Amino acid sequence: MSKGNVQGIRKDYGIDELSKDSVLDNPVDQFELWFKDAMKTEGSEVNACTLSTLDENQFPEGRIVLLKFFAEDGFTFYTNYESKKAQQLEKHPLASMTFYWRTRERQVRVKGRVEKVPAEISDAYYSERPEGSRLGAWASPQSQEIPDRQFLRDRVEEVKKKFEGKELYRPEFWGGYILIPSEVEFWQGRPSRLHDRIVFTLEGDKWVTKRLAP
Ligand SMILES: Cc1cc2nc3c(=O)[nH]c(=O)nc-3n(C[C@H](O)[C@H](O)[C@H](O)COP(=O)(O)O)c2cc1C
Repeated sequence: MSKGNVQGIRKDYGIDELSKDSVLDNPVDQFELWFKDAMKTEGSEVNACTLSTLDENQFPEGRIVLLKFFAEDGFTFYTNYESKKAQQLEKHPLASMTFYWRTRERQVRVKGRVEKVPAEISDAYYSERPEGSRLGAWASPQSQEIPDRQFLRDRVEEVKKKFEGKELYRPEFWGGYILIPSEVEFWQGRPSRLHDRIVFTLEGDKWVTKRLAP
C-alpha cells in the first residue's frame, strides 16, 4: 500500500524571516527584491508562475506561464489570445499569479484585474523572440485539439513559406496581458509551520499591510 503514499515527504524551513517592519512600502519593490534574490539561486525559470483563471463554470484553472515584465502598473506575460486562458480572461478578467522560489523558501501571490497590453508593446517583445518561437506562435492554435505532432510541423513549414523573404510580424492572435495588482502576498517559510505571511492590499491608492496566520 506504499504506492502513492507521499506523506513522509516534508521539509522544515528557516533560512529567512519576514515582518511588517521589514517589508518595503510598495509590494512591487518587495517583489523586485525577492525576484532578484531568487535569480541568484533559483536557476533559469525563476520567472515561472502559476496563472489561475476561472472557466465558464467557475472552475479555477491553473497553468504555468513566464513573467516577462513587471513594474508598478503590473505583471506581464505573453500567450495566444485565442487560447483557453484568453477566452476565460475575456469573460472574467480577474486572475492570480503564484510564484514559488524553492531555494529561498518563498511564495508570492499576486491578484488583480487583467488587461491586454498595447499592441506596440506586444510587437516589441515579439520581435525580440527567437525565430523558432515566432514561427511557433503563428503555427500553434493553442488549446485546440490537433490530430498529431505532424500537424504542427506542417503548420510551421506553411508559415515559413508564407513569410519567405518577408518580415515575420506578430500575429494578432498572440500578445501580452498585464495583471494589475490589487493584492500581493509574501510568504516566507519558517520552522514548525509557523510561517511568515505579509499581505499588501490596495485601499484607495494606498497599500496597507497585514500579517496573516500561516
Ligand atoms: C515552464 C513553463 C512555461 C510556460 N510559459 C508559458 C507562457 O509564457 N505562455 C503561455 O501561453 N504558455 C506557457 N506555458 C504553457 C502553459 O502552461 C499552458 O499549457 C498553455 O498556455 C495553454 O494553457 P490554456 O489551454 O489554459 O490556455 C508554459 C508551460 C511551462 C511548463
